[in-house]
Amino acid sequence: MHASEAAPVGLIGGTGVYDPERLPGFSRHGIQAVDTPYGAVALLVGDVGGRPIYFLNRHGPGHQVPPHRVNYRANVWALWRAGARAVLATAAVGSLETALAPGTLVLVDQFMDFAGGRARTFFDGEGSPLPGVRHTDMTAPYCAGWRAALIAAGEQESAKLSPSGTYVCTAGPRFETAAEIRAFHRLGGTVVGMTGVPEVVLARELGLCYAALCLVTNLGAGLSAAALTHEEVTGVVAAQQEQMARVLARALLPGRPTDCFCPPGPNAVEGAEG
Ligand code: HPA
Repeated sequence: MHASEAAPVGLIGGTGVYDPERLPGFSRHGIQAVDTPYGAVALLVGDVGGRPIYFLNRHGPGHQVPPHRVNYRANVWALWRAGARAVLATAAVGSLETALAPGTLVLVDQFMDFAGGRARTFFDGEGSPLPGVRHTDMTAPYCAGWRAALIAAGEQESAKLSPSGTYVCTAGPRFETAAEIRAFHRLGGTVVGMTGVPEVVLARELGLCYAALCLVTNLGAGLSAAALTHEEVTGVVAAQQEQMARVLARALLPGRPTDCFCPPGPNAVEGAEG
């Protein structure tokens, strides 16, 4: 458990959240290129009220990288190397129940991983930048402290908000079948998206706190009469992005306690810093 009042934070902007300058109080310092074992990443550096912020677009400039091809390891490694101690991410999600309406923010606290076929660990055996075989605890993958900060900020911004939920991650880039949506709901899922895993897993492997501000953009396939389109998703994001930016900026303001129970990273990670 640690208090990190103005600890540097990495921000990962998902679909429709491309510009940290929309965050009230954000001031931009410049661009920092970070080399990682997985390729170079350009971070936009700034601060909110004195808290250092490192921003990247998950889908790259112009939203050109589909969910299954995002270089998750490079992104998370770059934020960590730059000095971030927590990662906050935004994500567009579909709802698995009609009661959870588009426009709602969900502060998920669990995930289920159906996104096979992706590089999903830094502990990848021989040739990996982190040595050894390591099994990282994932009992409570999302940071309770940062979730609490985002929930409080959302309430202050009068956002429609659900304080917990289970994120089901699919491989994409296709949307789900109606049967898959029914099955995920029966399994205990709350929302469905394509990018939450392995992002959260990689952050936890490095000992970074991680929280996702999920925006419900649509009912899952088969829960509404109309077929699902990417335009429906981006339209709801566009309508809600100012509010998301206000919630994020408020949560990022220094001074808010962010005590949490996230286990620190393994000692091996310290060795990899040099
Ligand atoms: N399914 C998967 N990913 C999504 C959805 C969805 O319905 N909406 C936004 N991202």
